[in-house]
Amino acid sequence: MTDIDQLQADLLAAIAGAPGLEGLEACRVHALGKQGVVTGLLKTLGGMSPDERQVQGPRIQALRTAVTDAIADRKAMMERAGLEARLATETLDLSLPTGGIGGGSVHPVSQVMDELAEIFADLGFAVATGPEIEDDWHNFTALNIPDAHPARAMHDTFYFDKADGEGRKMLLRTHTSPVQIRTMVTTPPPIRIIAPGRTYRSDSDATHTPMFHQVEGLVIDKGITLGHLKWTLETFVKAFFERDDIVLRQRPSYFPFTEPSVEIDVGYTLIKGKRVIGGTEPDGWMEILGSGMVHPKVIAACGLDPAVWQGFAFGCGIDRLAMLKYGMDDLRAFFDGDLRWLRHYGFAALDVPTLSGGVGA
Ligand code: PHE
Repeated sequence: MTDIDQLQADLLAAIAGAPGLEGLEACRVHALGKQGVVTGLLKTLGGMSPDERQVQGPRIQALRTAVTDAIADRKAMMERAGLEARLATETLDLSLPTGGIGGGSVHPVSQVMDELAEIFADLGFAVATGPEIEDDWHNFTALNIPDAHPARAMHDTFYFDKADGEGRKMLLRTHTSPVQIRTMVTTPPPIRIIAPGRTYRSDSDATHTPMFHQVEGLVIDKGITLGHLKWTLETFVKAFFERDDIVLRQRPSYFPFTEPSVEIDVGYTLIKGKRVIGGTEPDGWMEILGSGMVHPKVIAACGLDPAVWQGFAFGCGIDRLAMLKYGMDDLRAFFDGDLRWLRHYGFAALDVPTLSGGVGA
Protein backbone atom coordinates (compact mmCIF):
# COMPACT_ATOMS: atom_id res chain seq x y z
CA MET A 1 0.00 0.00 0.00
CA THR A 2 1.26 3.46 -0.83
CA ASP A 3 1.28 6.25 1.68
CA ILE A 4 -1.71 7.87 0.05
CA ASP A 5 -3.73 4.63 0.10
CA GLN A 6 -2.83 4.15 3.73
CA LEU A 7 -3.77 7.72 4.59
CA GLN A 8 -7.11 7.31 2.81
CA ALA A 9 -7.87 4.08 4.65
CA ASP A 10 -7.03 5.72 7.99
CA LEU A 11 -9.12 8.83 7.30
CA LEU A 12 -12.14 6.84 6.09
CA ALA A 13 -11.94 4.60 9.15
CA ALA A 14 -11.84 7.65 11.42
CA ILE A 15 -14.85 9.16 9.62
CA ALA A 16 -16.80 5.92 9.85
CA GLY A 17 -15.99 5.69 13.56
CA ALA A 18 -16.67 9.35 14.44
CA PRO A 19 -19.01 9.23 17.43
CA GLY A 20 -21.05 12.32 16.63
CA LEU A 21 -21.28 15.52 14.60
CA GLU A 22 -18.51 17.09 16.68
CA GLY A 23 -16.17 14.14 16.13
CA LEU A 24 -16.95 14.26 12.44
CA GLU A 25 -16.11 17.96 12.33
CA ALA A 26 -12.78 17.18 14.00
CA CYS A 27 -12.08 14.61 11.25
CA ARG A 28 -12.90 17.22 8.62
CA VAL A 29 -10.53 19.79 10.14
CA HIS A 30 -7.82 17.13 10.53
CA ALA A 31 -8.07 16.16 6.85
CA LEU A 32 -9.36 19.18 4.92
CA GLY A 33 -8.81 22.16 7.23
CA LYS A 34 -6.18 24.83 6.50
CA GLN A 35 -3.53 22.78 8.32
CA GLY A 36 -5.13 19.45 7.33
CA VAL A 37 -3.19 16.47 6.06
CA VAL A 38 -4.94 16.33 2.69
CA THR A 39 -4.59 20.10 2.28
CA GLY A 40 -0.88 19.65 3.06
CA LEU A 41 -0.56 17.04 0.30
CA LEU A 42 -2.32 19.31 -2.18
CA LYS A 43 0.19 22.03 -1.37
CA THR A 44 3.11 19.72 -2.28
CA LEU A 45 1.83 19.57 -5.89
CA GLY A 46 3.35 22.99 -6.55
CA GLY A 47 6.85 21.78 -5.85
CA MET A 48 6.70 18.66 -8.03
CA SER A 49 8.15 18.17 -11.47
CA PRO A 50 5.51 18.05 -14.25
CA ASP A 51 5.93 14.26 -14.63
CA GLU A 52 5.56 13.60 -10.95
CA ARG A 53 2.57 15.96 -10.74
CA GLN A 54 0.88 14.07 -13.56
CA VAL A 55 1.00 10.90 -11.46
CA GLN A 56 0.42 12.33 -7.99
CA GLY A 57 -2.12 15.05 -8.92
CA PRO A 58 -5.05 12.76 -9.75
CA ARG A 59 -4.28 10.51 -6.74
CA ILE A 60 -4.31 13.38 -4.26
CA GLN A 61 -7.46 14.87 -5.84
CA ALA A 62 -9.12 11.46 -5.65
CA LEU A 63 -8.16 11.25 -1.98
CA ARG A 64 -9.72 14.64 -1.34
CA THR A 65 -12.94 13.65 -3.15
CA ALA A 66 -13.17 10.35 -1.27
CA VAL A 67 -12.73 12.06 2.10
CA THR A 68 -15.17 14.91 1.28
CA ASP A 69 -17.84 12.45 0.10
CA ALA A 70 -17.38 10.17 3.10
CA ILE A 71 -17.83 13.10 5.48
CA ALA A 72 -20.97 14.29 3.66
CA ASP A 73 -22.47 10.78 3.68
CA ARG A 74 -21.74 10.21 7.31
CA LYS A 75 -23.12 13.63 8.22
CA ALA A 76 -26.36 12.97 6.34
CA MET A 77 -26.67 9.62 8.07
CA MET A 78 -26.14 11.14 11.52
CA GLU A 79 -28.74 13.82 10.85
CA ARG A 80 -31.24 11.27 9.63
CA ALA A 81 -30.64 9.10 12.67
CA GLY A 82 -31.06 12.17 14.90
CA LEU A 83 -34.38 13.02 13.28
CA GLU A 84 -35.59 9.46 13.57
CA ALA A 85 -34.64 9.39 17.24
CA ARG A 86 -36.60 12.62 17.82
CA LEU A 87 -39.61 11.33 15.92
CA ALA A 88 -39.53 8.17 18.02
CA THR A 89 -39.49 10.04 21.33
CA GLU A 90 -41.46 13.23 20.70
CA THR A 91 -45.22 12.82 20.52
CA LEU A 92 -48.09 15.14 19.77
CA ASP A 93 -51.47 14.26 21.22
CA LEU A 94 -54.02 15.59 18.76
CA SER A 95 -56.87 14.52 21.02
CA LEU A 96 -55.92 17.00 23.76
CA PRO A 97 -58.48 19.76 24.35
CA THR A 98 -57.68 23.14 22.75
CA GLY A 99 -57.35 26.32 24.77
CA GLY A 100 -54.82 24.99 27.24
CA ILE A 101 -51.66 27.08 27.41
CA GLY A 102 -52.48 30.58 26.18
CA GLY A 103 -55.29 29.28 24.00
CA GLY A 104 -55.53 29.72 20.24
CA SER A 105 -58.59 31.22 18.64
CA VAL A 106 -60.27 31.32 15.25
CA HIS A 107 -59.58 34.60 13.44
CA PRO A 108 -62.73 36.63 12.71
CA VAL A 109 -61.95 36.45 8.97
CA SER A 110 -61.94 32.64 9.13
CA GLN A 111 -65.10 32.70 11.21
CA VAL A 112 -66.87 34.95 8.70
CA MET A 113 -65.73 32.71 5.83
CA ASP A 114 -67.29 29.75 7.64
CA GLU A 115 -70.47 31.75 8.19
CA LEU A 116 -70.62 32.60 4.48
CA ALA A 117 -70.14 28.97 3.49
CA GLU A 118 -72.90 27.94 5.90
CA ILE A 119 -75.38 30.57 4.68
CA PHE A 120 -74.75 29.95 1.00
CA ALA A 121 -74.67 26.16 1.33
CA ASP A 122 -78.25 26.46 2.55
CA LEU A 123 -79.06 28.24 -0.74
CA GLY A 124 -77.41 25.48 -2.78
CA PHE A 125 -74.03 27.13 -3.39
CA ALA A 126 -70.77 25.15 -3.41
CA VAL A 127 -67.45 26.66 -2.32
CA ALA A 128 -64.90 27.13 -5.14
CA THR A 129 -61.28 28.23 -4.94
CA GLY A 130 -58.63 29.55 -7.29
CA PRO A 131 -54.93 30.44 -7.11
CA GLU A 132 -53.75 33.68 -5.50
CA ILE A 133 -50.95 33.86 -8.08
CA GLU A 134 -52.95 34.42 -11.25
CA ASP A 135 -52.29 35.28 -14.88
CA ASP A 136 -53.65 38.42 -16.49
CA TRP A 137 -56.01 36.46 -18.73
CA HIS A 138 -58.05 35.10 -15.80
CA ASN A 139 -57.73 38.24 -13.67
CA PHE A 140 -58.47 40.77 -16.43
CA THR A 141 -58.81 39.77 -20.10
CA ALA A 142 -61.48 37.07 -19.73
CA LEU A 143 -63.38 39.46 -17.42
CA ASN A 144 -63.74 41.90 -20.31
CA ILE A 145 -60.82 44.04 -19.14
CA PRO A 146 -58.55 44.07 -22.22
CA ASP A 147 -54.92 45.15 -22.17
CA ALA A 148 -55.28 48.93 -22.37
CA HIS A 149 -58.48 49.11 -20.27
CA PRO A 150 -58.32 51.80 -17.54
CA ALA A 151 -59.71 49.30 -15.00
CA ARG A 152 -56.31 47.58 -15.06
CA ALA A 153 -54.70 50.73 -13.70
CA MET A 154 -57.48 51.11 -11.12
CA HIS A 155 -56.57 47.79 -9.53
CA ASP A 156 -53.05 48.76 -8.30
CA THR A 157 -51.82 45.35 -9.33
CA PHE A 158 -48.74 43.57 -7.96
CA TYR A 159 -47.06 42.05 -11.03
CA PHE A 160 -44.34 39.39 -11.16
CA ASP A 161 -41.23 39.91 -13.30
CA LYS A 162 -41.67 36.72 -15.27
CA ALA A 163 -44.53 35.67 -17.56
CA ASP A 164 -45.90 32.11 -17.57
CA GLY A 165 -45.14 29.47 -20.26
CA GLU A 166 -47.84 30.91 -22.54
CA GLY A 167 -46.47 34.46 -22.25
CA ARG A 168 -49.22 35.61 -19.87
CA LYS A 169 -48.22 38.21 -17.31
CA MET A 170 -48.35 36.80 -13.77
CA LEU A 171 -49.79 38.78 -10.87
CA LEU A 172 -51.33 38.52 -7.42
CA ARG A 173 -55.06 38.39 -8.05
CA THR A 174 -56.66 41.77 -7.41
CA HIS A 175 -60.11 40.29 -6.79
CA THR A 176 -61.79 36.89 -6.51
CA SER A 177 -63.51 37.36 -9.88
CA PRO A 178 -60.95 35.14 -11.74
CA VAL A 179 -62.57 32.23 -9.88
CA GLN A 180 -65.73 32.99 -11.92
CA ILE A 181 -63.68 32.32 -15.04
CA ARG A 182 -61.96 29.21 -13.69
CA THR A 183 -65.33 27.78 -12.65
CA MET A 184 -67.14 28.52 -15.93
CA VAL A 185 -64.27 27.08 -17.97
CA THR A 186 -64.23 23.80 -16.04
CA THR A 187 -67.80 23.25 -14.78
CA PRO A 188 -70.80 22.77 -17.04
CA PRO A 189 -73.75 24.95 -15.93
CA PRO A 190 -75.95 25.29 -13.95
CA ILE A 191 -73.39 26.85 -11.59
CA ARG A 192 -73.89 28.14 -8.08
CA ILE A 193 -70.68 28.93 -6.22
CA ILE A 194 -69.12 31.27 -3.73
CA ALA A 195 -65.36 31.76 -3.71
CA PRO A 196 -63.86 33.25 -0.56
CA GLY A 197 -60.15 34.00 -0.44
CA ARG A 198 -57.20 36.35 -0.31
CA THR A 199 -56.79 39.21 -2.76
CA TYR A 200 -54.02 41.79 -3.20
CA ARG A 201 -53.71 45.43 -4.17
CA SER A 202 -50.91 47.90 -3.62
CA ASP A 203 -52.85 50.03 -1.16
CA SER A 204 -52.46 50.73 2.57
CA ASP A 205 -54.34 52.87 5.11
CA ALA A 206 -56.91 52.42 7.92
CA THR A 207 -59.42 50.79 5.58
CA HIS A 208 -57.06 49.20 3.02
CA THR A 209 -54.37 46.58 3.47
CA PRO A 210 -52.21 45.21 0.60
CA MET A 211 -53.72 41.78 1.31
CA PHE A 212 -57.42 41.57 2.01
CA HIS A 213 -60.26 39.08 1.62
CA GLN A 214 -63.16 38.90 -0.77
CA VAL A 215 -65.96 36.52 -1.43
CA GLU A 216 -67.18 36.08 -4.98
CA GLY A 217 -70.60 34.73 -5.84
CA LEU A 218 -71.60 33.32 -9.21
CA VAL A 219 -74.82 31.85 -10.55
CA ILE A 220 -75.09 30.65 -14.16
CA ASP A 221 -78.31 29.07 -15.36
CA LYS A 222 -81.16 29.64 -17.80
CA GLY A 223 -83.52 32.55 -17.26
CA ILE A 224 -81.60 34.21 -14.42
CA THR A 225 -82.62 37.83 -13.75
CA LEU A 226 -81.74 40.78 -11.50
CA GLY A 227 -84.64 39.68 -9.30
CA HIS A 228 -82.76 36.48 -8.42
CA LEU A 229 -79.71 38.56 -7.55
CA LYS A 230 -81.69 40.89 -5.31
CA TRP A 231 -83.44 38.08 -3.44
CA THR A 232 -80.20 36.13 -2.96
CA LEU A 233 -78.35 39.11 -1.55
CA GLU A 234 -81.24 40.09 0.73
CA THR A 235 -81.46 36.56 2.08
CA PHE A 236 -77.70 36.48 2.61
CA VAL A 237 -77.46 39.85 4.40
CA LYS A 238 -80.40 39.02 6.69
CA ALA A 239 -78.85 35.68 7.65
CA PHE A 240 -75.40 37.20 8.08
CA PHE A 241 -76.45 40.07 10.36
CA GLU A 242 -79.05 37.85 12.00
CA ARG A 243 -81.97 40.24 11.67
CA ASP A 244 -84.97 40.58 9.37
CA ASP A 245 -85.24 44.37 9.37
CA ILE A 246 -82.58 44.73 6.68
CA VAL A 247 -83.18 47.08 3.79
CA LEU A 248 -80.97 46.99 0.72
CA ARG A 249 -80.60 49.76 -1.82
CA GLN A 250 -79.48 49.03 -5.36
CA ARG A 251 -77.48 51.70 -7.15
CA PRO A 252 -76.46 51.59 -10.81
CA SER A 253 -72.72 51.16 -11.12
CA TYR A 254 -70.05 50.01 -13.54
CA PHE A 255 -67.90 46.90 -13.69
CA PRO A 256 -66.48 45.70 -17.02
CA PHE A 257 -67.59 42.12 -16.32
CA THR A 258 -71.24 42.79 -15.41
CA GLU A 259 -74.02 44.50 -17.36
CA PRO A 260 -76.01 46.00 -15.81
CA SER A 261 -73.88 46.54 -12.72
CA VAL A 262 -75.42 47.20 -9.35
CA GLU A 263 -73.82 48.43 -6.17
CA ILE A 264 -75.59 47.31 -3.03
CA ASP A 265 -75.95 49.50 0.06
CA VAL A 266 -77.33 48.32 3.38
CA GLY A 267 -79.33 50.58 5.66
CA TYR A 268 -78.03 51.41 9.14
CA THR A 269 -79.53 52.97 12.24
CA LEU A 270 -77.61 55.39 14.44
CA ILE A 271 -77.50 54.17 18.03
CA LYS A 272 -75.59 56.50 20.38
CA GLY A 273 -73.66 57.80 17.39
CA LYS A 274 -72.69 54.30 16.21
CA ARG A 275 -73.84 52.85 12.92
CA VAL A 276 -75.70 49.59 13.46
CA ILE A 277 -76.71 47.56 10.41
CA GLY A 278 -80.49 47.21 10.13
CA GLY A 279 -83.66 49.18 10.74
CA THR A 280 -86.61 49.44 8.38
CA GLU A 281 -86.29 53.21 8.20
CA PRO A 282 -82.54 53.59 8.00
CA ASP A 283 -80.65 56.72 9.05
CA GLY A 284 -78.12 56.17 6.29
CA TRP A 285 -76.61 53.75 3.80
CA MET A 286 -73.37 51.85 3.69
CA GLU A 287 -71.97 50.31 0.54
CA ILE A 288 -71.31 46.60 1.03
CA LEU A 289 -70.78 44.98 -2.34
CA GLY A 290 -70.58 45.16 -6.11
CA SER A 291 -72.67 42.95 -8.33
CA GLY A 292 -74.49 42.62 -11.61
CA MET A 293 -75.57 40.35 -14.42
CA VAL A 294 -72.58 38.51 -15.87
CA HIS A 295 -71.54 40.25 -19.12
CA PRO A 296 -72.29 38.13 -22.23
CA LYS A 297 -68.68 38.64 -23.33
CA VAL A 298 -67.46 36.99 -20.11
CA ILE A 299 -69.78 34.03 -20.63
CA ALA A 300 -68.55 33.71 -24.23
CA ALA A 301 -64.87 34.00 -23.16
CA CYS A 302 -65.45 30.87 -21.05
CA GLY A 303 -66.79 28.94 -24.03
CA LEU A 304 -70.49 29.12 -23.10
CA ASP A 305 -73.27 30.46 -25.31
CA PRO A 306 -74.60 33.72 -23.80
CA ALA A 307 -77.86 33.25 -25.74
CA VAL A 308 -78.51 30.16 -23.62
CA TRP A 309 -76.82 30.90 -20.29
CA GLN A 310 -77.21 33.97 -18.08
CA GLY A 311 -76.26 34.67 -14.55
CA PHE A 312 -75.36 37.08 -11.84
CA ALA A 313 -72.17 37.67 -9.88
CA PHE A 314 -71.22 39.62 -6.82
CA GLY A 315 -68.03 40.45 -4.96
CA CYS A 316 -67.82 41.54 -1.37
CA GLY A 317 -65.03 42.46 1.04
CA ILE A 318 -64.94 39.90 3.86
CA ASP A 319 -62.82 41.98 6.23
CA ARG A 320 -65.34 44.81 5.99
CA LEU A 321 -68.21 42.40 6.65
CA ALA A 322 -66.39 41.22 9.77
CA MET A 323 -65.80 44.81 10.90
CA LEU A 324 -69.47 45.70 10.46
CA LYS A 325 -70.69 42.61 12.27
CA TYR A 326 -68.17 42.42 15.10
CA GLY A 327 -67.37 46.12 15.57
CA MET A 328 -63.65 46.50 14.82
CA ASP A 329 -62.69 49.89 13.43
CA ASP A 330 -59.14 49.46 12.11
CA LEU A 331 -58.57 46.95 9.36
CA ARG A 332 -54.79 46.88 9.85
CA ALA A 333 -55.18 45.26 13.29
CA PHE A 334 -56.64 42.20 11.50
CA PHE A 335 -53.18 41.26 10.26
CA ASP A 336 -50.90 42.48 13.06
CA GLY A 337 -51.02 39.20 14.96
CA ASP A 338 -51.44 41.05 18.28
CA LEU A 339 -52.37 38.39 20.83
CA ARG A 340 -54.58 40.78 22.82
CA TRP A 341 -56.61 41.59 19.69
CA LEU A 342 -56.86 37.92 18.75
CA ARG A 343 -58.03 36.98 22.24
CA HIS A 344 -60.61 39.74 22.22
CA TYR A 345 -62.03 39.22 18.73
CA GLY A 346 -61.16 35.56 18.13
CA PHE A 347 -63.63 32.68 18.29
CA ALA A 348 -63.40 29.42 20.16
CA ALA A 349 -62.31 26.51 17.96
CA LEU A 350 -65.58 24.70 18.51
CA ASP A 351 -67.73 27.76 17.85
CA VAL A 352 -68.73 26.43 14.45
CA PRO A 353 -71.34 28.61 12.78
CA THR A 354 -74.67 26.94 12.05
CA LEU A 355 -77.85 28.44 10.71
CA SER A 356 -79.93 26.87 13.46
CA GLY A 357 -77.68 28.28 16.16
CA GLY A 358 -77.51 31.72 14.52
CA VAL A 359 -74.45 31.92 12.30
CA GLY A 360 -72.52 34.22 14.55
CA ALA A 361 -73.74 32.97 17.91
N1 PHE B 1 -64.51 42.19 -8.56
C1 PHE B 1 -65.18 43.42 -8.17
C2 PHE B 1 -64.23 44.22 -7.27
O1 PHE B 1 -63.28 43.68 -6.75
C3 PHE B 1 -66.47 43.14 -7.43
C4 PHE B 1 -67.52 42.49 -8.27
C5 PHE B 1 -67.60 41.10 -8.38
C6 PHE B 1 -68.43 43.24 -8.98
C7 PHE B 1 -68.57 40.50 -9.15
C8 PHE B 1 -69.39 42.65 -9.75
C9 PHE B 1 -69.46 41.28 -9.84
O2 PHE B 1 -64.40 45.39 -7.06
